[in-house]
Amino acid sequence: MSALRLGVNIDHVATLRNARGGPHPDPVRAALLVREAGGQGVTAHLREDRRHITDADVERLAAECDLPLNLEIAATEEMVAIARRVRPHACCIVPERREERTTESGLDVIGAEARLRPVVAALAERGIRVSLFVDPEPRQLEAAKAVGAPVVELHTGSYCEATGEEQQRELERLMRAAALCRELGLECHAGHGLTYANVKPVAAIPEIVELNIGHYLIGEAVFSGFVEAVRRMRRLMDEARAG
Ligand code: PXP
Repeated sequence: MSALRLGVNIDHVATLRNARGGPHPDPVRAALLVREAGGQGVTAHLREDRRHITDADVERLAAECDLPLNLEIAATEEMVAIARRVRPHACCIVPERREERTTESGLDVIGAEARLRPVVAALAERGIRVSLFVDPEPRQLEAAKAVGAPVVELHTGSYCEATGEEQQRELERLMRAAALCRELGLECHAGHGLTYANVKPVAAIPEIVELNIGHYLIGEAVFSGFVEAVRRMRRLMDEARAG
């Protein structure tokens, strides 16, 4: 089975900082602790309204971060220009609505091929590995492949929100989607809403090579400290992967 990377999303360190308008707590400081804590990457979402991560954060992350940076962006001209200039290791294209609290659903790639194909190409041209954040739907995966994305990130929100038999059905959807990724030659990532309690079944899906986790980890960091919170998540992922 391939290795499973943990990308730590540090957006909500910035949320906390922005609550007071000063420099503390610094999301870059968190990014610099990820390696020590056992994570393999840092993820940040530069939203159109800059509600958490700012342009200055992105510049500093790109310059100072000692792990691959995965920049989440909407497929807008402004964001593509920023990403092309900053050149993070990877970009995950997400849908974005101003009024949403968080990314509520996956990108609707079907029907948006003409808009997304040049975005994927413009980022890839700068050496950026592009992923599309999609619901675990076969047609979305096929469309992602068709627009030239080498990677997809499966939205785990429906799985995380479900309980009982419904959660099992959502898990099976993720498993089928991950298997289809392999058939299509797409690298498969997953994330959104993952916690200590629900991460293991997702981490055990063999085709998934990266999980991106943020909000829960930053919440737990309040109680146990950032490094310990990330370490514990990493341990659970390793246990799941070991079977
Ligand atoms: N992956 C993507 C594409 C996201 O947009 C988010 C949320 O910003 C995450 C993963 C992480 O989700 P959470 O903060 O719920 O762990």
